[in-house]
Amino acid sequence: MVEGDICDPAALAGAMQGVKHVFHEAALVSVTVSVEHPLDNDSINIRGTLNVLQAAREAGVKRVVLATSAAVYGNNPELPKRETMLPEPESPYALGKLAGEYYMKLYSHLYGLEAVSLRYFNVFGPRQDGKSMYSGVISRFADDIRQGRAPTIFGDGGQTRDFVFVKDVVQANLLAMKTDSVGKGEIFNVATGRQITLLKLWEILKGISGSDLKPGFKEARIGDIRHSVADISRIRKDLGYEPKFSMEEGLSALMDGLGKERTR
Ligand code: UD1
Repeated sequence: MVEGDICDPAALAGAMQGVKHVFHEAALVSVTVSVEHPLDNDSINIRGTLNVLQAAREAGVKRVVLATSAAVYGNNPELPKRETMLPEPESPYALGKLAGEYYMKLYSHLYGLEAVSLRYFNVFGPRQDGKSMYSGVISRFADDIRQGRAPTIFGDGGQTRDFVFVKDVVQANLLAMKTDSVGKGEIFNVATGRQITLLKLWEILKGISGSDLKPGFKEARIGDIRHSVADISRIRKDLGYEPKFSMEEGLSALMDGLGKERTR
């Protein structure tokens, strides 16, 4: 594992000496921040990824696996989301992730660096920060329950997402790194293929925690996507990935906190 500032190419190249496998997970992670600060998004998510790839090339790294995002699909209403769909980035963040995917392909084709991009859907798990306004809904609901505070649902709660537990995301990363038949810049959805409403999610969390809090409803967020679910047939077929954690199991692990989760 390499730890280094992705905005500092020299430091990165030094840190990668002797390294064969790189998981590039670092990023400016907020869509909202990317809209407010597009130049920072460019430096971190586009130039930063390019720095990682260039350093990897110079250091003789075998393979890079990049975390990208379902955000690249944008608001195209077609479901489920397939990797063959035309990307419709609607934020600097989404555009940056898409550029990263293209750079991965280029570095594979031009320089022989093995590359695999993973498009994460809605990832959740222990230790996720639930306190920020940019936090994902599951970590916010979990924090609400811990604080005894009523959660807020934006809209009617009928919107759906494809929530994937962090250990399944780890599984996808390891397979992407180990599978010999890929490495040419392929792109894979990382999700479960399950679609769940926010209301159902809240019901499950309530059941697990025994909470009797009642959600408050507010106006739907501007630009919110109504439905999102992935087609995961490509990652199943090419990497042998199979999501192992049900919503209930993932949410129980989240509420229990680190260390008490079931391992697979
Ligand atoms: C997620 C990403 C976003 C990315 C998008 C791409 C996060 C935090 N956001 O957005 O960066 O562009 O996927 O597909 O990972 N909600 C509530 N109450 C809350 C918080 C959220 O009702 O307290 C609702 C939201 O309005 C939304 C749903 O829950 O309808 C999910 O929200 P969120 O977890 O922020 O994820 P996405 O909107 O899917």
